[in-house]
Amino acid sequence: MSADALAQAFAHLESGRLTEARRLARGLEQARPEPAALPYLLGLIALAEGQGKKAAQQLARACARTPGAIPPLLAFARSQTLQDRQAEAKSAYRRLLALAPDLAIGWQELAELQLRADLKLAFKPLRAATRLLPGHAGLRSNLGIAARANGDVMTADANFLAAILLDPSLAKPYANRAALLRHRHLPAEAEARRAFRISPDAASHIELGQALDPASALDHFAEAARLLPSQLEPLWLQAEALRQLDRKEQAATLYRQILDRDPEDRFGAGLALAGLVGAIPERAAKAHVEALYDQYAVSFEQNLLGELAYRGPQIIMDGLKRLGLTGPFDVYDAGCGTGLMGQAIKQLAKRLIGVDLSAKMADLARARGIYDEVRVGDLLAMERAAYDLVLAADVLIYLGDLHQVSRAASEALRPSGAFAFTVERSEEDAVVLLPSGRFAHSEDHLRQTAKAAGLQVALLEPTTTRREKDLPVPGLLCILRKQ
Ligand SMILES: C[S@@+](CC[C@H](N)C(=O)[O-])C[C@H]1O[C@@H](n2cnc3c(N)ncnc32)[C@H](O)[C@@H]1O
Repeated sequence: MSADALAQAFAHLESGRLTEARRLARGLEQARPEPAALPYLLGLIALAEGQGKKAAQQLARACARTPGAIPPLLAFARSQTLQDRQAEAKSAYRRLLALAPDLAIGWQELAELQLRADLKLAFKPLRAATRLLPGHAGLRSNLGIAARANGDVMTADANFLAAILLDPSLAKPYANRAALLRHRHLPAEAEARRAFRISPDAASHIELGQALDPASALDHFAEAARLLPSQLEPLWLQAEALRQLDRKEQAATLYRQILDRDPEDRFGAGLALAGLVGAIPERAAKAHVEALYDQYAVSFEQNLLGELAYRGPQIIMDGLKRLGLTGPFDVYDAGCGTGLMGQAIKQLAKRLIGVDLSAKMADLARARGIYDEVRVGDLLAMERAAYDLVLAADVLIYLGDLHQVSRAASEALRPSGAFAFTVERSEEDAVVLLPSGRFAHSEDHLRQTAKAAGLQVALLEPTTTRREKDLPVPGLLCILRKQ
């Protein structure tokens, strides 16, 4: 009798007739002995009703009653997700997948959790799921996203292409591939147009706009701004396109709107506005540098060491060597980024402290395991008389006037300590805001700021730390000494 009622209740549940399923389950709660599968049934009903906590309680009982059974474990993991208990959900999926490594849906759901929390961590579960479901286009497309987040553009591209071949009716794989091509400075219009034809939503307008020339892009950004009134990105893209078209006043109006709505200035509208009117702001907004490098962190080294042939740390090391500064030093690596400068100086360091505005860059520096401490924050927050060497490789390009940083470095140094840094070179004006949003500084400015800070110029010479559009970027290497 109760076996029939149980089977019927499951049948109602499967067909979405929750009231009937719940009515039968209530009757079964009175049965003695209680049917073994009752907690599982009650858990599933609660899940279907969106009651995560109640579901979790029943499903935990169900798991205890039938240890190692897969369906209650899967349902339990879902009940944790429903309650937004990410860590518990992840550990439930891991337990489940240790028992059932071929359960594609388990890998898929774990990957969805990771995609929301940390794209990079979604790669493993997605790879496992695609191995089990090789023809699933959506999974391939997500695998591409996770590969890209890990900096593996080739795997990303191969998976976007596979997704397109598997199901050409989906917009996402085209849009993802367009974004990747654009990121690699390759033509992206064809892919962006395909995504747009399939799904002409705000995201497609933005992607297509970015693949087009500024004049053709404007309407797409304007439409995206209309569709997403609470977001600043379409406004920013519109302002940038107007600036490129030399429609300065319209661009300035939009930059001002962006600044009004986001005074911390994640987009760098303050710099852009200053650039339009030829003003020199004090520095790039902290929130802007942070956002820029948080986004850039994963591809930073590949891009800088490969495409841009970056040599800042080697140039500084060479300068120190020529001055006979061989350590061992207590070192403050200002704007440490992913730790390239730290890696180079490590052999001469007794104590190595890194600081960076971007938490993602700081994480990568920490992961090198060479720093005694990596702080997230502004480089100006240096302790007094605590270091023998303050380094800033390719960092002061985000500061305008260098008086304040030179003073801070001077105060942070012990007697006979050194402040070694590279900047981009301005041939005439003391400080120039470049179209790239970075600052360049003149030799005179470096001499003046050193003097004002009580530092001696030990080395100041032209150099080039990286290339841009295949041309060397003019720079300066500067090493200042404290008496
Ligand atoms: C071009 S990277 C150079 C990184 C590293 N020094 C190197 O040589 O590889 C510039 C770094 O400086 C950081 N940065 C810029 N302004 C900063 C500030 N005011 N305080 C701390 N970090 C800053 C950025 O977040 C970024 O990681």
